[in-house]
Amino acid sequence: LGVIPLGERFRDQLPLGDVGLVTLGEGSTPLLASPRLSERLGAEVWLKWEGANPTGSFKDRGMTVAVSRALADGAGAVVCASTGNTAASAAAYAARAGLAALILQPAGAVARGKIAQALATGARLVEIQGSFDETLSVASALAEQGTHVLVNSLNPLRLEGQKTAAFELVAELNGPPDVVALPYGGGGNACAYGQGFREAGAGLPNFVLGEAAVRAETAASAIRIGRPAHEKAATALVEASGGAVVPLSDAEILAAWRDLAHGEGLFCEPSSAAGVAALFRRPPPAGSRVVCIITGHGLKDPDAVARESTDVRSLPPDPKLVAEAVR
Ligand code: F0G
Repeated sequence: LGVIPLGERFRDQLPLGDVGLVTLGEGSTPLLASPRLSERLGAEVWLKWEGANPTGSFKDRGMTVAVSRALADGAGAVVCASTGNTAASAAAYAARAGLAALILQPAGAVARGKIAQALATGARLVEIQGSFDETLSVASALAEQGTHVLVNSLNPLRLEGQKTAAFELVAELNGPPDVVALPYGGGGNACAYGQGFREAGAGLPNFVLGEAAVRAETAASAIRIGRPAHEKAATALVEASGGAVVPLSDAEILAAWRDLAHGEGLFCEPSSAAGVAALFRRPPPAGSRVVCIITGHGLKDPDAVARESTDVRSLPPDPKLVAEAVR
């Protein structure tokens, strides 16, 4: 049984009409029990593993919808500004659709695996000598000239696709969780979950959003965003849901990232652990049902691991020596 693409599974709830799908098999990601986090937090904790999407992040949920529509509407090219995951996703779906992709990225600020993904799938990559916020302004200005369709989350079709993750949670848990925790970069994904839970008609969980305390300089490069594009809507959602925005140090984000990897065997990229880190600071009610959205795969950022642990011995092929060395 293969993955049913989310554009097919949820077509009736998406603004797709009967357009042909540009799909790589996105959505229907695993919801994993998290015994060690559950014990530590005194709650029933689940991990929604979005790294299992085709390009390794939740961006694919929105990209299948945005690119399917762009192709159907006769576009020739897409453009985005990105800290890397939107880029990898846009490049792959554009290639699948036979469209050109122009990727703008803040210079020196994107993880290696993500750059490799965009280049491998044939995107045109340009480094902008500035912040993510400045890069996004350039992408928006180019899109306004009409040559490229913008596939950042300012394109509402992206959030339409991303809202399907909330539908999946409601279906699997027979209702919304009590708490949902996720990283807060530009805020588009939080808003998409809000939209999804509202449309599912089953009530809102408390939204707990983990953001970098020093947004513009965090080591968690995926969420290195000075001014969140969806700040107003994300703040309103957090308030309406009785949740919180939790500013986090890099040490807190990296500690949660290590806990997920060592304790649960889940290797995500550092930014993806920000929701978990936020829960350590603002524990959920005892016994409540909690879902942490783990947004992107660890393989995207091998340098994050290299910065941590380099304890690898090199030995000759001699069992005695190896046994001694690992004793
Ligand atoms: N987690 C990961 C792995 C991300 O790549 C992003 C955003 C977020 C969380 C935050 O999501 O912006 O909707 O609040 N990445 C964007 C990009 C900025 O360009 O790939 P948000």
